[in-house]
Amino acid sequence: MTQAADRPQARRVAILISGGGSNMKALVASMTGDHPARPVLVASNDPAAPGLAWAAAHGLPTAAIDHRRFGQDRPAFEAALHAALEAARPEILCLAGFMRILTPDFVRRYQGRMLNIHPSLLPRYPGLHTHQRALEAGDAEAGCTVHEVTAELDAGPILGQARVPVLPGDTADTLAARVLIQEHRLYPAVLRRFARGDRRRLDL
Ligand code: GRF
Repeated sequence: MTQAADRPQARRVAILISGGGSNMKALVASMTGDHPARPVLVASNDPAAPGLAWAAAHGLPTAAIDHRRFGQDRPAFEAALHAALEAARPEILCLAGFMRILTPDFVRRYQGRMLNIHPSLLPRYPGLHTHQRALEAGDAEAGCTVHEVTAELDAGPILGQARVPVLPGDTADTLAARVLIQEHRLYPAVLRRFARGDRRRLDL
């Protein structure tokens, strides 16, 4: 796996996960060769996140800040997360299946250089259970969105979207699986542009 050291001038990217990290894996795999960015940290709020083990096995620095240690003290959790991030000196943060809501104070530290992927065609279906909601609404299409993170949940400037058809007989799981394939195409493509300073919207 390529490291930040192999391309010193590359933009430094930290990726935040909470689980398997399939989007993190796609992002890491994309940052090779002439890609203008390199991964410098994979961090998680869950020490047991399988994506952390994968990242460590691929030679990437990792950090686990267990949000349960901090109870309801969200600022204390975010202070620990920020300290771990700052040690890696990231220029760009990619939230990838990161399931903690970040306070406006934390967002302000990274606004303008923090991305997220959301499994719906925003502004439709911010929040959770996006695929079930699309099915219940009878939507003919669904998809995913990469957006800049702002203090308002799932509402920042859209940097890219990818669409999939909703098919007869779809369940939330079959639709999620179809969308996930597009997430793994969209997020790397948007990051490649964003790391070059190109914020034009990309529709796949
Ligand atoms: C994906 O649907 C992503 O859009 C959402 O979390 C799900 C799992 O992501 N944010 P990953 O496999 O952990 O990257």
